[in-house]
Amino acid sequence: MPKAPTRIPRRSALVVRRAGPEDAAAIAAVHVTAWHEAYGGLLPSAMIDALTVEVRQAWWAQVLSSPQPGADEAAYLAELGGTPVGFSLGNAQRAGALAAAGFDGEFRGPYLVRAAQGRGGGRALVAAMANGLQQAGYRAVGAWVLRTNAPGRRFIDGLGGTLLDGPEAVRGHGRFTEIAYGWRNLAPLAALGRGVGSPVSTPDPCRPGHDA
Ligand SMILES: CC(C)(COP(=O)(O)OP(=O)(O)OC[C@H]1O[C@@H](n2cnc3c(N)ncnc32)[C@H](O)[C@@H]1OP(=O)(O)O)[C@@H](O)C(=O)NCCC(=O)NCCS
Repeated sequence: MPKAPTRIPRRSALVVRRAGPEDAAAIAAVHVTAWHEAYGGLLPSAMIDALTVEVRQAWWAQVLSSPQPGADEAAYLAELGGTPVGFSLGNAQRAGALAAAGFDGEFRGPYLVRAAQGRGGGRALVAAMANGLQQAGYRAVGAWVLRTNAPGRRFIDGLGGTLLDGPEAVRGHGRFTEIAYGWRNLAPLAALGRGVGSPVSTPDPCRPGHDA
């Protein structure tokens, strides 16, 4: 079972690429580490504890290998020096309120392990999602963020996301709330990836999950 890295040499090159079924184990390891690091203390501990690499690997294997027509789901993997360190998922908007407001695409993530943060991976993963959605014909995008995730919200603010007035998702039996951000125009986000080794291709539709 792969483990997410805790130390990455400073000069490692960043590459963001479209993920495939062969990446399920690597993304699962990054997913579990990044969620423990980001959400410990913010989400109910039972929820964090239930997030195991085995469970996530099965979920990612399904997402990456079983296309669902119409969802335009595309996952991206960020690597530093060839080591998987982050991921994101872009797809058709699943939330009716956001779709009705014109945010036809959805960002899920990005997530980077702590050791890899602050090195451009988050921005490059956003650019990859934006590119993928734009190529598939989407124009705008919404993203859900945990209300108490202050660093994540600052990151989104910095990328020009607008906090949407109204949409909220109360989850975990009322124990946490997600709020929605939106971007009306994907083009500036898609341009953020220039200069990063990002062999991003046209997305294939994949089966959407519900909790990445
Ligand atoms: C938030 C996160 C995705 C940012 O990714 P990253 O690789 O660390 O960020 P980048 O290096 O790509 O930074 C891009 C820009 O965002 C800014 N930024 C990143 N994190 C920030 C933060 N917490 N507060 C303010 N600005 C931030 C950077 O300064 C940079 O701005 P600049 O271009 O003006 O220099 C990453 O830290 C992470 O995975 N955090 C934990 C999980 C999480 O909260 N994900 C977001 C859920 S929506």
